[in-house]
Amino acid sequence: MSRASGRSARLQRVEAFSPATVANVACGFDILGFAIDAPGDIVIAERGSRPGLRFADDEPNDGFPRELKANTAGFAAWSLLQHLGEGKTSITLRLQKGMARGTGLGSSAASAAAAVVAVNTLLGMPLPKQALLRFAVAGEQKADGAWHADNVAPSLLGGMILIRDNAALDVISLPYPKALHAVVVHPAVQILTADARRVLAPKVPRAQWIAQSGDLAALIAALCLGDLALLGRCLNDHIIEPQRKHLIPKYDAVKAAALAAGALGAGISGSGPSMFALAASRVVAKRVATAMQAVFRKARLPCNAWVSPINATGAYVKSAS
Ligand code: HSE
Repeated sequence: MSRASGRSARLQRVEAFSPATVANVACGFDILGFAIDAPGDIVIAERGSRPGLRFADDEPNDGFPRELKANTAGFAAWSLLQHLGEGKTSITLRLQKGMARGTGLGSSAASAAAAVVAVNTLLGMPLPKQALLRFAVAGEQKADGAWHADNVAPSLLGGMILIRDNAALDVISLPYPKALHAVVVHPAVQILTADARRVLAPKVPRAQWIAQSGDLAALIAALCLGDLALLGRCLNDHIIEPQRKHLIPKYDAVKAAALAAGALGAGISGSGPSMFALAASRVVAKRVATAMQAVFRKARLPCNAWVSPINATGAYVKSAS
């Protein structure tokens, strides 16, 4: 008898949503990230008639590969099914992208996270959510070739996630002040994470390392203490921002506008081009969003903005039948 049997094995169709994420959070390159409420990706897993996993034949031509092992959702789901010994189980995937590629919103990670939640639920929940993480990270690795969970972990698990060790996927869900609100602004340029990783120097000068360590340690303390004033002093990126900000038009002006409008701090969301800011309330966050958008728009750069509390839920099942 397979692990998929039992009461939940009767499910025929599961629709899962997984949210966008802000990775790095200024000083936590590859080891810190948080989820926001929207946008996000949807993966629908349906039982089919032909053995094995595949994408539906009528998937849209949205620029994302639908070759199973080249797609972050496809590879994540495939890896999970292999682990469960369910490689021959007939499952059809549908992927509804809420984010384009190369936005800095964790698009590929959200697809991977939604896929493992949808498939795991369809099979009757053989694994707890946390155990799905490594399959989702394996999926996301298909996008940029690197193994880092700073988008996948918060997209899957929700909250503000610290990754002590990416290889071991030792992740810690941090507390955070509930009033904290995020602003994410996406200007209409594309930066692929793989390209943004290639611009980074392999070595870090000692002075930058010391400054970054101080800010990261203080950021964790600020979140645990609920100390927003301290949070406002430590949202600095001494290492990555100077190497990447030239990829984002008007970066310095947008960041300055965010701070002038009352943000606690601002920086690059993941590998960009999206920029994020954190604010002490929804009211301030909305003001910050308006100020950041105004700079991009003045430069004739179309942009979208989202204001959200830190999303505590992460990926979830929208419907199951
Ligand atoms: N930590 C990764 C990077 C996140 O900045 O390259 C990519 O979204």
